[in-house]
Amino acid sequence: MEGLHDVLRRQAERALREKAFKGENAETLLLVAPDSGATSAVLLGLGTEKECSLERLRHAFGSLARQLRKADVGQAVLCLATPQLRSRLSKVGWKVAGEAVAVGWALGAYSYDVYKTARQKNRSRRTLTLTTREAPKEFTAGLKTGEILAQAVNFGRDLSNTPANHLYPEKLAAEARKLARDCALSVRVLKKKDLERERMGALLGVAQGSARPPCMVVLEYRPERKRVASGQKGAKGAKGFRKLPTLALVGKAITFDAGGLSIKPARGMEEMKFDMAGGAAVLGAMKAIARLAPRLNVVAAVPSTENVIGDSAMRPGDIIRSASGKTIEIINTDAEGRLILADALQYVRRFQPDFILDFATLTGACLVALGTRVSGMVTNHQKLGRQVFDAGERSGERVWQLPLYEEFLEATKSHVADLKNSAGRYGGAITAGAFLSYFVGDIPWCHLDIAGTAWAQRASGCFEQGATGVGTRLAVELALSLSG
Ligand code: BES
Ligand code: MN
Ligand code: ZN
Repeated sequence: MEGLHDVLRRQAERALREKAFKGENAETLLLVAPDSGATSAVLLGLGTEKECSLERLRHAFGSLARQLRKADVGQAVLCLATPQLRSRLSKVGWKVAGEAVAVGWALGAYSYDVYKTARQKNRSRRTLTLTTREAPKEFTAGLKTGEILAQAVNFGRDLSNTPANHLYPEKLAAEARKLARDCALSVRVLKKKDLERERMGALLGVAQGSARPPCMVVLEYRPERKRVASGQKGAKGAKGFRKLPTLALVGKAITFDAGGLSIKPARGMEEMKFDMAGGAAVLGAMKAIARLAPRLNVVAAVPSTENVIGDSAMRPGDIIRSASGKTIEIINTDAEGRLILADALQYVRRFQPDFILDFATLTGACLVALGTRVSGMVTNHQKLGRQVFDAGERSGERVWQLPLYEEFLEATKSHVADLKNSAGRYGGAITAGAFLSYFVGDIPWCHLDIAGTAWAQRASGCFEQGATGVGTRLAVELALSLSG
């Protein structure tokens, strides 16, 4: 209660005494200042010291920020003088605690109201800031990192929340170009002609039904090149000259998934504007990586198209040829994600990546298997899988592995082509992953199915209803850990 106005302090003490406020995690109590001279205060519960964790901190600060934003609060000061708070934060570690607080806060402060005409007028009031008092240096440094992460996540959320009439492949490419300019990343956009030259029959096949041309965005982050360009010499000694590892990130960006001729039911179809959330996660990750500057190369490929109906739309039974040369029988045009990823995975192999990570809202089956709080993982490399799992635990974007047994690889073979794009309902999240594995060869690879985690059906914790931006924090955490 240090530093509180007397009247507010008495209010707070009474609330505690009468158990109107118990201090449970994420519990809040607003204390309204009695006169215009004082500032209002809010009590935030963080539960017991034993239970305190990074995820609980994110959750608590996230739901507080959501609440304050709705109350049109513009600014808050976090007072770190209370010994109970200090001991909790030092227990989880000041640096990572700062990160968690800033991430929770900025994710909670986010709202998507670009198309709310009434809200536009008080735009300036809508930023909710958090400053601190008596914070250790490490905590402040953590806040800074957390802010960078959350801004990158919110950038991706904006993309995923944007409706398909405003965000289509060319628009996504324009956003990526702007991002590259702002963050000094190199960028290349493969247009339809380029995709044809690359013989990307799988991506082009999905795009056939749409009037909007497909594309593929390629971004590169190379820390060494920048050093050379700025005239600095590489560090002396063997270590300085060792080639940096390369991480490839691939993200599915279907700007609208109507299912194609195997059309989806009308109910809930409006949510399929988010079917580019994998691509958004990757773009968000590139934004944060450019600012946090880890020592490894990162290349990103985001294949993008709509999956809709037109008189030239792909038909079930069609056989297409992917960029890898493998032929694919189309069983269901709604299994389009794996098709565009097949060509993007093939494409990133030319960068000779040491690791490939892909993010995709790939299957409804993943939702059935794992629900909405954990992403499905399929990998061909247990060690990388373990690193991704650990990065998930640290970042709060948790993943759970699904098995890649030989039977699943068999199940995706076709009688008339090399592969088929659907192996039926059972084990759908796994057979989708198995299909992708054919396009990465022996490169250590990890697929993340974010169909359940990329969209919040209702508000909870740090998130308002809508896009969660999942994947960005996980990818950045992995990039940081791979860079040592
Ligand atoms: N984008 C969907 C997956 C999806 C479904 C994400 C529901 C979020 C919520 C994907 O393109 C798709 O339609 N997958 C099919 C595959 C099936 C036809 C083999 C599915 O899951 O039904
Ligand atoms: Mn689909
Ligand atoms: Zn889809």
